[in-house]
Amino acid sequence: MILNEKSSTMFNRAAKVIPGAVNSPVRAWRAVGGTPLFISRAEAAYVFDLDGNRLLDYVGAYGPAILGHAHPQVVTAIAEQARDGFGYGAPTELEVTLAEMISQAVPAAQKVRLVSSGTEAGMTALRLARAATGRPRILKFDGCYHGHSDALLVRAGSGGMTLGIADSAGVPDAIAGLTAVARYNSLASVEQCFAAFPGEIAAVIVEPVPANMGVVPPGENFLGELSALTHRHGALLICDEVITGFRLRYGAAYESYRSADPHLLMFGKVIGGGLPIGAVAGRAELMDLLAPLGPVYQAGTLSGNPLSVRAGIETLKILRQPGIYENLESAAARLADGLRMALRQNHQLGCVNRSGSLLTMFIGENNVTDAESARRCDSKRFARIFHRLLERGIYVPPSQFEAMFVSIAHGKAEIDRTIEAADEALRATDDR
Ligand SMILES: Cc1ncc(COP(=O)(O)O)c(C=O)c1O
Repeated sequence: MILNEKSSTMFNRAAKVIPGAVNSPVRAWRAVGGTPLFISRAEAAYVFDLDGNRLLDYVGAYGPAILGHAHPQVVTAIAEQARDGFGYGAPTELEVTLAEMISQAVPAAQKVRLVSSGTEAGMTALRLARAATGRPRILKFDGCYHGHSDALLVRAGSGGMTLGIADSAGVPDAIAGLTAVARYNSLASVEQCFAAFPGEIAAVIVEPVPANMGVVPPGENFLGELSALTHRHGALLICDEVITGFRLRYGAAYESYRSADPHLLMFGKVIGGGLPIGAVAGRAELMDLLAPLGPVYQAGTLSGNPLSVRAGIETLKILRQPGIYENLESAAARLADGLRMALRQNHQLGCVNRSGSLLTMFIGENNVTDAESARRCDSKRFARIFHRLLERGIYVPPSQFEAMFVSIAHGKAEIDRTIEAADEALRATDDR
């Protein structure tokens, strides 16, 4: 067992004032058991907890930490900005710069509205789609997560999937009932939804590479054909790039897939360099429906706050340097190959799905292509592997249904140590 005395004490203290001791459910380790580690600081590829454990981190703050933690250039930018104030309730040049950077990198993002979280971006994208089409319904995919707004907490992945909650309590049936759910990688299931609600679906919302049921890359042509199908039915395509945007490439992930043509996009995580942010973006004629130009209301006290925006700009400047994504790709490919080899050498069922610097080692299932196959994985066994990895100083997300996030701070030494630890962890948990 890893030493966690101080984290345990803090957990008990936290539980008295914070529901479940955490501010976001997956942090509670319900899926793997045990007490979550309380983190005191982080640097590059490592996090340090209250008990002084130094852990090689693959949680990566659930996505933003693509440069590793506390990158000196970003730290300096945030400190400089802090001296000039944290927010003014008035527009700044910084917001214009970040919007321009996103727009220049993403052809479909003709206009950009900054918000404070991915959840807000999702809410706004749906409202825009409904306003633009005059249609009430939304189509999402089983296992995809788009934040915790009412309409989108229907068969959500991530914490919802881990906890086995298809719908959250408190979501009125009248709202949940407007969300149709299709199977990822199945165009037939999308066709069925359109047939069931002809002329009623305002938008199809999709993670181009889902990472909230674990990583599940799209099949060949899936996104292109989904896009064509959506257009054909007069609905809008919303690409949720909150995880994938500027992580899989400098820009949006959908562009890697032939003929995918979204009307609206959501961003978050990487574009704020680790500080709270979100963005909804898309075609100018749709975005101009937003207040103050149009009738779709959306607002935010901290939207486009200068600290997040400055951190985001600095992060994107580093990311657009040559070689960054190639290095991420080769580090993550090395890790994925090593984990596959570890599974094979230990004669274990399982597979490693990877897209760029996102990957998931699925335990107990050889082919994961959608939420149903993800759910067939052996979560109990995953939990044991999680704890054996932790004992070896490797900190992966505490759920089978999350991505491991590789950063530019994960060098060859870190990757090889992870593979070795995974091999040992798989052997140590071999209970056949
Ligand atoms: C794909 C995706 N969309 C939206 C969200 C919601 O973003 P936030 O947690 O910033 O509200 C997340 C969060 O993990 C996500 O992974």
